[in-house]
Amino acid sequence: MKFFVDTAEIDAIAELNDLGMVDGVTTNPSLIKKSGRDIIEVTKEICDLVAGPVSAEVTAVDADTMIAEGRKLLEIAENITVKVPLTWDGLKACKTLSDDGHKVNVTLCFSANQALLAAKAGATFISPFIGRLDDINLDGMELIEDIRTIYDNFGFETEILAASIRSVNHILDSARIGADVITAPPAVIKAMVNHPLTDKGLDAFLADIKAADIKIL
Ligand code: G3P
Repeated sequence: MKFFVDTAEIDAIAELNDLGMVDGVTTNPSLIKKSGRDIIEVTKEICDLVAGPVSAEVTAVDADTMIAEGRKLLEIAENITVKVPLTWDGLKACKTLSDDGHKVNVTLCFSANQALLAAKAGATFISPFIGRLDDINLDGMELIEDIRTIYDNFGFETEILAASIRSVNHILDSARIGADVITAPPAVIKAMVNHPLTDKGLDAFLADIKAADIKIL
């Protein structure tokens, strides 16, 4: 399973990247706003840092402008993936850009039918938003399962990029179901290391190290 980091914060990406945890990065207009940076500048910095795909999202809602924006974003670096919304115009932009050989991430996916359309339009990645479905009492993981089944039924190569991940359990469930990629905020990825028994066990070891004055260096 690939790990993408869902942020435009350079320091957070760098920390995880140094540990080999970053297979790619996803950004969106809200994350760019949060960074307080210019979209082109910050995206270039991320692309210089990370070898894998970096999703940069268009701002337009009509296909022609999405395509023009996508082409401008693609000039930033070789590892740009153009992110378009799951609308009819977004699918048109996806088809054009993917036919031209570019990677496209179709975002804001909330149904398996939408995911089916994105695959037909040549999406490299489909981004189902788990957390936002959970927010309205629907089951985000069920959507990931449905898309996995449908894509496997027909051999679609579009990768399932589980997004809007809010908890470590979202990551675990996505891994169990077989999502190809998760994209999560850095804090959620780092939280995967936590276990109270690890802390408790380490405390006991530290007490014994002190009591027995165990030294290695
Ligand atoms: O990758 C999509 C993600 O940024 C949306 O997450 O938490 O705003 O629903 P969230």
